[in-house]
Order: sequence, then C-alpha cells, then structure tokens
Amino acid sequence: MPGLPRSAPNVAPPPQADLETLAEAARSCHGCPLYEAATQTVFGSGPSTARLVLVGEQPGQEEDLEGAPFVGPAGRLLRALLDQAEVDPKKVYLTNAVKHFKYKYRGKRRIHQRPNRSEVKACRPWLTAELETIRPSVLILLGATASQSLLGSDFRVTQHYGEVLFTPWCANTLATLHPSAILRAPSRETREEMRSTLLASLRRGVQLLSA
Ligand code: URA
Repeated sequence: MPGLPRSAPNVAPPPQADLETLAEAARSCHGCPLYEAATQTVFGSGPSTARLVLVGEQPGQEEDLEGAPFVGPAGRLLRALLDQAEVDPKKVYLTNAVKHFKYKYRGKRRIHQRPNRSEVKACRPWLTAELETIRPSVLILLGATASQSLLGSDFRVTQHYGEVLFTPWCANTLATLHPSAILRAPSRETREEMRSTLLASLRRGVQLLSA
C-alpha cells in the first residue's frame, strides 16, 4: 500500500482467521518492500469452500489495478483452460505466491519483474494461511515461483511434472506450467504443446477431485 510508513510494525496473518480477515490484514502488510510501489495488495479470490486451489506467481498490471488475481491476459488464458477442463471458475480459489505487483518502468509502461527469494519468503505466511483456512482437496502450483514458495528453492517443475505430491497443505498437489509462460512461447508449436501440458494438469486435478 503506497504511503504506509516504513516504521509501522509489520502485520502477520492472524491465526485461524477466515479469508476475509486474512485479506483485510494483508492490506497492511509491508513484510517486503513491494507494497511501496504497488497500487494495492492483491489477495486470493474465491470461496472458502473451494476444493481446488490454483496458485500463481504474483499479480500483473491489470490485477494490480483491479485488485483481483488472474484478470489479465494470463488469467484469461487460465480461465479458458479451466473451461475446457470443465471446471466452474466460481468454485475455484485463485491466489498468488506474492501479493504485490513487482515491476520496473520502461518509459511509461510498467514491466513485470520476477519476485526474488526474500520477497517470496516474506509473502509465504499469507499463502500458507490461505491454504490452512481452505484445506483444498487439490492444489495446483502454476510455475516455478509458486512451486518453490511451498516446496523449496531447489524444486524444479520439469522434474516433478505429472507427479501427485503430498504436501502439508494438500495430499494432492500438482506442479505445472504458468499460463504466462505459454503467452511467452517462442513459436506457435511450442505454445500449443505448453497449452496441452497445462490443460492436462487441470484435467488431472479434476480427476483427483472425484477420486
Ligand atoms: N500471473 C500470476 O501469476 N497471477 C496473476 O494473478 C496474474 C498473472
């Protein structure tokens, strides 16, 4: 939150709080410097009864302005794939490993910057608090930042793709590609391949929901 004094004590997630209380508390978090330049905290969104949780990296330009996760280009692609996998997006909880947009200016444009390890670590308690509140049946980690936030910095999505992992937050945890990686694919062929990979992970998540 711009303007929050640096000397204010940092806010930790209140224990055993519901999602609304967590989201409200996270507005005042300044556990890392990213709150200073971001428009607002972008907390997770979706029902506390969600059985499926998807975790991305961090809000982008559109999410930062709207205050909701996955409403920009990557979110539109993700929602299209959820639709193909026959998942009702209203029943899914969408969130990010980092709750503030990190960017640098190129001219007047704000260009996404990947959060560093200490920023991811600072935000992790908010993510784990969301997961402990929801206790999802299936947890899908989209890309390296989300996966490494929960599974450690040595974790490589490519080495564990397709595995169902047992984690403290969910017995059915999958790590897969991030939709932004698909948007950045160097060729149409690669894009199609990556799209199929992410779709297969979402479908696997659906199977696990009904297993
Ligand atoms: N990318 C993410 O990882 N999360 C969002 O909310 C938007 C883009």
